Amino acid sequence: MSSDTGPARSEVDRRSLDPDAETMRRLGYELVDRVVEHLHTLSDQRVARRGTHEGFAAQVDEPLPEGPSDLEECLAFFFDRVVPGMTRVNHPRFHAYIPCPSSFAGAMGEMLAAGTNPFAGSWLGGATVCSLELTVLRWIAEMLGYDPLAAGIFTSGGSMANLVGLAAARAKWGREVLERGSIYVSREGHASLDKAAAILGFPPEAVRRVAVNDRFRMDLADLERQIEADRSARRLPFFVSSNAGTTNSGAVDPLSAIADLCQKQELWFHVDGAYGGFAAITPQGRARMGGMERADSLTLDPHKWLYCPMGVGCALVRHPEWLERAFSAEGSYLKDLSTDEVNFLNRGPELSRPARVLSVWMVIRSAGQQGLVDQIEEDMRLARLAAELLGEDSRLEVDEPELSIVTFRHCARREESESERAARDTTLMETTLEDGQLMLSTTVLGDQSTLRFVVMNHRTTETQVRHAVDRILEFVS
Ligand SMILES: Cc1ncc(COP(=O)(O)O)c(C=O)c1O
Repeated sequence: MSSDTGPARSEVDRRSLDPDAETMRRLGYELVDRVVEHLHTLSDQRVARRGTHEGFAAQVDEPLPEGPSDLEECLAFFFDRVVPGMTRVNHPRFHAYIPCPSSFAGAMGEMLAAGTNPFAGSWLGGATVCSLELTVLRWIAEMLGYDPLAAGIFTSGGSMANLVGLAAARAKWGREVLERGSIYVSREGHASLDKAAAILGFPPEAVRRVAVNDRFRMDLADLERQIEADRSARRLPFFVSSNAGTTNSGAVDPLSAIADLCQKQELWFHVDGAYGGFAAITPQGRARMGGMERADSLTLDPHKWLYCPMGVGCALVRHPEWLERAFSAEGSYLKDLSTDEVNFLNRGPELSRPARVLSVWMVIRSAGQQGLVDQIEEDMRLARLAAELLGEDSRLEVDEPELSIVTFRHCARREESESERAARDTTLMETTLEDGQLMLSTTVLGDQSTLRFVVMNHRTTETQVRHAVDRILEFVS
C-alpha cells in the first residue's frame, strides 16, 4: 500500500464541518429565531414571486467558494437573498395547485431527522426509527379505517407512492403485464400514474384513460366497457387507479362500486388519495370515501393534508408480500441485515433514506387524531365559505366544493367565445399573482377553463379567506 496521506494538517488548522458546541448552539438558536420570524409574519408577506433565472441569479448566484465562510453568513445569505424571492406555499393565502402548508411541529420532526440523521433503510441501521415508522403507518391505517396489518412505507411524495402501488401490483401479476397489461386511470387521474407506468417499463398504451361524469368522477360504465374490450382483444386488465380527491377539483370516484368491480374482475384496486385521502379521517370525508378501506394499495401525502414539510408521501399495500416482492434487494454488502424484521429498503426504491417518519410522527403525536380531524374539517368549512362568498357575485359561476377545492370561472358574456372567456380567467389569476396578496391557479375541467381556490392550511382563517375573496372580486372583469 502506498502511503499517500501527505503531511498531517494540524487538527487546529483544519476547519471542522461541526463548529464547537457553543457556536452550534448560538447558530441553531439564530436559525430557529429566523424561521419563527418568517412563519410568524407570513400573512404580511407577498405570496408569489415570479422571475427569470437571470433575475434570481443576480440575487443568489456566486462562484464556487474556494475557501470557507462563516455559517452565520450562509444563514444571512439564505434569509436575505433566497427567501425574499420565494413563493410561499405555506402562506395562509396560497390557494393554488395543491398547497403544501407544513407546520412547525412537522418542521421540528424534520429538524430531528436532519440533526440526528438516522438511517431508515434497514433495521440494523435505525431500528427505533423503523419501529416508529411501523407505528405511525399503523396509526394512519387506523385513522382511515384501513387494515392496520397492511404494509407501508413513507416515500418522497404521492408520485412515488403511486409508483410503489403500481410496482406491487406488477409484482403480483408478473412480467406478462408489461406486454399485455392494462392500467385504468380516470381522465382526471394524476399524471404521476403515467410516469410510474413509464418508469416501470409499461408502454404508453398500457394506460387507459376512463371517462368521467359531469362531477368529474370516474364513469363506471366506461370502465367496464374498456375492461371488456381489452379482454376481447386479449389484453390483461389488472390495475384500476381511482381518486380519493382529484387534483383538479377534488372529485371522489365511486370507490365502493369500483372496489366491487375490481373484486368481481380480480383486478388490483388502487386509490390515489394524495390530495384528499386524509379527509377520510373526518366523518364527512369518511362518508364520501366509503370503499377506500378496501384498496389493495393506497397513496397518501402527509406533506399535503397532514401538514408535514415537503418530502413525505405514504404508500400502504394490503398484502406485504407484493410490496416486498416488488422491491426486495440482495447484495453481499447487505448480508448482515436482520431478516426477521422489516428492512424498509425492501419496501421501496431507496436504500439510504431519511427518517421521514419523524415529521409525520411529530404532527400526529402533537395534534392528536381529534386535532387533525378538527383542522381538516375547518379547511373544508372555509372552502365552502369561499364558494359561498364567490357565488354571491353574479359575474362568477362557482361549483360546490367536494372537499376543499373551489372551482369557479367568469360567466360567459353574450357572444363571447370560450377562449375569450378563458382569457379573463387567466388574467384574473395573473393579476392576483402580481398583486401578491393571494395565489390562485387555473386548470381545464371538461372543456372549460376554470380557476381554482384551494384551502389546505392550518394558518388560513376565516378573516384570511374573506380578505382573499374580496381581493379576487376586485379583479373580476
Ligand atoms: C391526486 C394526486 N396524486 C398524486 C400527486 C403527486 O403527489 P406529489 O406531488 O407529492 O408527488 C398529486 C399532487 O398534487 C395529486 O394531487
